[in-house]
Amino acid sequence: MKEKEIKIKYQEYNSLEDLDEIDKNLIGKAKKAVLKAYAPYSHFKVGAAVLLENGETICSNNQENAAYPSGMCAERVAIYYASSKFPDVAIKAIAITANYNEKDYDKLISPCGNCRQALLEYEQKQGKPIKVILSAAEEKTVIINSIEDLLPLSFGSKNLE
Ligand code: THU
Repeated sequence: MKEKEIKIKYQEYNSLEDLDEIDKNLIGKAKKAVLKAYAPYSHFKVGAAVLLENGETICSNNQENAAYPSGMCAERVAIYYASSKFPDVAIKAIAITANYNEKDYDKLISPCGNCRQALLEYEQKQGKPIKVILSAAEEKTVIINSIEDLLPLSFGSKNLE
């Protein structure tokens, strides 16, 4: 038996001033998008903004449904729209933020397992990492370098070859 270890590195910031302009801008767009979320059941609104290599930004939010599982997370709304509109353009980054009961959510919100799997598909397809920017209240920010970091030992297209 061999015991193995998986470690990831990520960056934590306590002020938006320390972020680069592009990342700060993307957070601003996710914060705008969160306000338009359709979350009448959970009152937990999530906003996402995806930056593409061609400079386009796709903004989205969660869309809930009375039949709960039919709803969709903000991250997948964004990534599927990005891929449907610009199928051959690489995704550079996704910023994610949340708002609970009309207030900026004070904890970082990280993509759920389904969203990680969906994001990984596109990261592997493009062969380049997608940066994940998590933004909470009071300018708290975490930057993760890739989706793979969030989903180690994953199942992907290479398993189907
Ligand atoms: N949600 C997202 O949009 N993204 C996540 O990463 C986690 C959860 C949504 C789904 C649902 O509409 C609400 O947040 C509460 O789970």
